[in-house]
Amino acid sequence: MYIYDDYDQRIVDQRVVQYRDQTRRFLAGELSDEEFRPLRLQNGLYIQRHAPMLRVAIPYGHLSSLQLRKLAEIARKYDKDYAHFTTRQNLQYNWPKLEDVPDILAELATVQMHAIQTSGNCIRNTTSDQFAGVAHDELLDPRPWCEIIRQWSTFHPEFAHLPRKFKIAVNGAAEDRAAIWVHDIGLNVVKNEAGEIGFKVIAGGGLGRTPIIGSVICEFLPCAHLLTYLDAVLRVYNRYGRRDNKYKARIKILVKAMTPEVFASKVETEWAFLKDGPQTLTTAEIDRMQGFFTVPDYTAFAGDDVGFVQQQLDSKAFARWVERNVFKHKQAGYAAVTLSLKKHGAAPGDASSDQLAAVADLADAYSFGELRVSHEQNLILADVKQADLFELWEKAKAIGFATPNIGLMTDVICCPGGDFCSLANAKSIPIAIAIQERFDDLDYLHDLGEIDLNMSGCMNACGHHHVGNIGILGVDKNGSEWYQVSLGGRQGNGATLAKVVGPSFAQEQMPDVIEKIMAVFVENRLGEERFIDVFDRIGMLPFKTRVYAKETA
Ligand code: HEM
Ligand code: SF4
Repeated sequence: MYIYDDYDQRIVDQRVVQYRDQTRRFLAGELSDEEFRPLRLQNGLYIQRHAPMLRVAIPYGHLSSLQLRKLAEIARKYDKDYAHFTTRQNLQYNWPKLEDVPDILAELATVQMHAIQTSGNCIRNTTSDQFAGVAHDELLDPRPWCEIIRQWSTFHPEFAHLPRKFKIAVNGAAEDRAAIWVHDIGLNVVKNEAGEIGFKVIAGGGLGRTPIIGSVICEFLPCAHLLTYLDAVLRVYNRYGRRDNKYKARIKILVKAMTPEVFASKVETEWAFLKDGPQTLTTAEIDRMQGFFTVPDYTAFAGDDVGFVQQQLDSKAFARWVERNVFKHKQAGYAAVTLSLKKHGAAPGDASSDQLAAVADLADAYSFGELRVSHEQNLILADVKQADLFELWEKAKAIGFATPNIGLMTDVICCPGGDFCSLANAKSIPIAIAIQERFDDLDYLHDLGEIDLNMSGCMNACGHHHVGNIGILGVDKNGSEWYQVSLGGRQGNGATLAKVVGPSFAQEQMPDVIEKIMAVFVENRLGEERFIDVFDRIGMLPFKTRVYAKETA
């Protein structure tokens, strides 16, 4: 894990002091709302429906148990005893008092955390694979590269006032778990014909009002050139990106308007000035960054743990949890575990202070004091001995984090929607809960297999509804809340955007609509086929016909 040096600590501490004075001046009436707004946004503070909302950066989703305990303590002391994990590996507090925020930031700084660049038109927190460094299908550990990007992008003077916000994701594994195709820049680790490692660079992806799957602008970028190339992309965007219309300001609109080919050639031209310049990464610098992500002190096991294999035979419930929530590790005898934050009846991605503190204890006991956050809004213990899995499962059950539903329909991605967000057209959490309650039969849920259900409360698409196999979008119809359903989206490899089924539905219809969609799926399914594959095979029509059929009872 990366550890702050004196310089990092100093700039974060200085920012807290500055912000404390800015808040003081605002509260004393010396700064107007308008003057204070950019200052608070630079520190991750939004003003939301009921209260301010503070977004804390979790660099590439990595946390130490110490940091998590501090996050729990802040939730207890300054918020309503819970926090929300977002789809970009950040954490949000929904109820802080404006006057407490400087104290919260000061507390965060004591554990090397901050809320800088979690808002505004700058390069945001870099996101990555939650299994980075331990995944069995990994070509290269993306974390040192995320860290290189973090250091380059934090307070980058040239990119502090971009046309719009800018989000980068890095994936180093065969399977994309970082949603690289729907980011402003997605970096995918690849090997070229000569066997060298580099990055495939994808630009101009994004969700929101205009969802677009990114385009490859460079098939193979040697690692040493990462920063000079990123600089070139950002410079082209900074120069040509629209500033006259907020809705057309993201890089995706520019790449589309120019065409990916022309955009790529502009980047090449810009890069010619920067390539091999001072930002070129030396082997020493790359080694230094890799040094922060050393292999933990693993016990050497020859193979799978015998007891663990037996425990799965003895307990069906344990076997089911292993099947869904346990991920294959690079290291023999170890596993990565996803703790589900999608217990039925709970708001997806939320965790109470007690739960956070309990997870910190689990990380200490079972995972070298570290944990990760996934963009699906779950928590991960990445280095668990197979021999400890049964015990961990029992402890995770006790805190409500062992629902065996990872990748299943009730593992919904869901934004905070109308319950918290002032931009929402409709609530999203109650719909997620109603669907979870309808599909509470675990056997049935497991039989249905992998289904991504993603939901957003408005077209900003914080809940990634465009790339859900089933997407739900809250819409406003004459002042009341309705829901538009889309089908056929995919995240990860071969990402695709979902298509709208048809006219929107009322809130109370939603569980029935999903049930009808499942019925069509089950009737048409061949063997163990996944929902998305059935959809691709039979198309939209059978689903559309069923959900809009008149009741004939
Ligand atoms: C509550 C305060 C929030 C505000 C004011 C807000 C605002 C926005 C806006 C304006 C966009 C559209 C950007 C565009 O034009 O493309 C957006 C997109 C997005 N937001 Fe939020 N959001 C909030 C909460 C969240 C939460 C809770 C999450 C995660 C659960 C989140 C994650 C994202 C993601 C992943 C996108 C995807 C669109 C993209 O970047 O292409 N946001 N948000
Ligand atoms: S999708 Fe809309 S409602 Fe949901 S958090 Fe984002 S801005 Fe708010």
